[in-house]
Amino acid sequence: MARHRTLLWLTTGIAFAIVWLQRSRHTSASTSPTSQRSRSIIQHASDAIISTDEHQRILHANPAAAAMFDTTVQAMEGAPLQHYLPRGQRQYSDSGQGRYFGETGIRLRMKGRRAGDYLVTGQRAHGQLFPLEGSISALNENNHSIYTIILRDITERKQVQERLEQSYAQLRELSAALQTIREEERKYIARELHDDLGQLLATLRGDLALLKRAQQYGPAARKLLAGMDTLLMSAISSLRRIASNLRPRALDEGGLYYALESLRQDFVNRYSIACQMQASEEDLILNDTYSTEIFRIVQEALTNISRHAEASKVLLSLQRQQYDLKIEIQDDGRGIAEQDMDKAMTFGLLGMRERVRALHGEISIIKDGGTRISIRLPLPLQTPAPAA
Ligand SMILES: Nc1ncnc2c1ncn2[C@@H]1O[C@H](COP(=O)(O)OP(=O)(O)OP(=O)(O)O)[C@@H](O)[C@H]1O
Ligand SMILES: [Mg+2]
Repeated sequence: MARHRTLLWLTTGIAFAIVWLQRSRHTSASTSPTSQRSRSIIQHASDAIISTDEHQRILHANPAAAAMFDTTVQAMEGAPLQHYLPRGQRQYSDSGQGRYFGETGIRLRMKGRRAGDYLVTGQRAHGQLFPLEGSISALNENNHSIYTIILRDITERKQVQERLEQSYAQLRELSAALQTIREEERKYIARELHDDLGQLLATLRGDLALLKRAQQYGPAARKLLAGMDTLLMSAISSLRRIASNLRPRALDEGGLYYALESLRQDFVNRYSIACQMQASEEDLILNDTYSTEIFRIVQEALTNISRHAEASKVLLSLQRQQYDLKIEIQDDGRGIAEQDMDKAMTFGLLGMRERVRALHGEISIIKDGGTRISIRLPLPLQTPAPAA
């Protein structure tokens, strides 16, 4: 939409500017209604319109141009264009196939793809630099080139863009901080459950075993004791399950490889979907942050497969390639649809992307005979690939 609007104002502007130029050079005294209308449109255009000769001296400038550069039409006409579009100020121009304006080194684009392709820097009369969006067209008259430039001040748009980018960055930081806090809390609660409550239940069960060995109890009391033992056993296994769901012990004790292996085994047992893992233990000796993040990514991918994919086979591959870790999770299910990628109020894929982003990696999720998630994670330098 914005692109169409930009193209429209550029095309219309160029057309009028050319008419304006032709009329003002050849029939400057013309008072035909068409000539007057064109002149009036240029005069009242909200975009700045400037025309120059081939030496980049300004021939004409409309009032909008004068206002934009904080000067007057009279001051602009006859002045070098360089005063208003200085050389060497290309921080706003793109790195693509730009087109140089004559020999000035001022780069503008006539036929861009996006509004951002027309960027150039302007300089107001009192020296302040500001970003501009513009277009240029050339006209040949008696073997002399006349250039028409249409410009629009985009300072405000730039500022809004910058503020938006800043708030995105802050949101990302917040989300990463929340993930870390959440993970720390999970780790803490899992440890408390295991070390505190788990120990109490184990002691209780030991005491119960002693009681069961005593001779003085009748059959009713013995039945009660056996029942208590069963309940205690199921309390202990519930506690282990809850603690492990919060934070797999393998992550802290055995490392990422074993944590993923038990995740895989659990997935196969629970959903009867074949799942193969291609990875080596030494490739997955990583620090706590990387281990936790990778574990959570794979966990979400497997949860998604169990819930959405209707798959019968999953291939999980984690391979070290020099300083990168390549992770691939491929299923043979119905395949993810394009519109699923940005579903409202779902956070699994979003969380996955954010985790990868926070680790400066890349992720792609595609439909490929099922769904394929490919991730490349640059690893920290202190964990280089083991010698082959
Ligand atoms: N392996 C897959 N195969 C097919 N569709 C998938 C797969 N993974 C995800 N999807 C689709 O992508 C959507 C978004 O996934 P995402 O994990 O973000 O959300 P969710 O699983 O629906 O909810 P949650 O926020 O609990 O994770 C899913 O609703 C599902 O339609
Ligand atoms: Mg999900």
